Amino acid sequence: MARLDDHIEKILFQPDELNVKVKELGAQISKDYKGKHINIVVILRGAFVFCADLIRYIDADISVGFMVVSSYGGGTKTSGNVRIIKDLQKNIEGEDVILVEDIVDTGLTISHLKDLLSTRHPASLKVCSLLSKPSCRRVDVIVDYLGFEVPDEFVVGYGLDYEQNYRQLPYIGVMKPSAIKVKHGGTKADGSSTKDCS
Ligand code: PRP
Repeated sequence: MARLDDHIEKILFQPDELNVKVKELGAQISKDYKGKHINIVVILRGAFVFCADLIRYIDADISVGFMVVSSYGGGTKTSGNVRIIKDLQKNIEGEDVILVEDIVDTGLTISHLKDLLSTRHPASLKVCSLLSKPSCRRVDVIVDYLGFEVPDEFVVGYGLDYEQNYRQLPYIGVMKPSAIKVKHGGTKADGSSTKDCS
């Protein structure tokens, strides 16, 4: 994938590191939900790669539902406005639900979704995210199952995108500042790249 690799400044997590971590998360979830049925809710689009791998390491009964939400609107700067583009089709009342995300940045998306889904009275509602960027937080959120913390840099790959590209990269890497269009405010004065989450 040389064309896409050329836009990556550095790799944070190689495929084998991701695999080890996803396996650990799957094992922990399997232990915690032993004998239960889990309603996995995948937050599209970013989480689809991570979740596809994760469920193959969960040794419990599961069903999988999907929500499409958007807060970044294609650029690198959060709008702070979480839009539900596609809602769940199934009732989650009385269910043990795990929301699966690729990344928690400001926390606005997951906080909004937790508030929304709580009104539907699940038996339990937890969050599993592959990545977390604590330096970007605007609201406190508990990530019950977390893969890795990442620094305040613009990360792509393994499901995460920049303008819908790079999702297919098998690793998680940091974009070169030169590959991020200035019009989205993704390049700081010092030339470093970031998803502007402040
Ligand atoms: C990304 C990511 C999370 C959200 C996290 O979604 O997948 O859902 O942002 O950011 P927050 O903690 O600041 O709310 P995005 O809106 O980019 O859509 P995508 O999943 O389709 O890429």
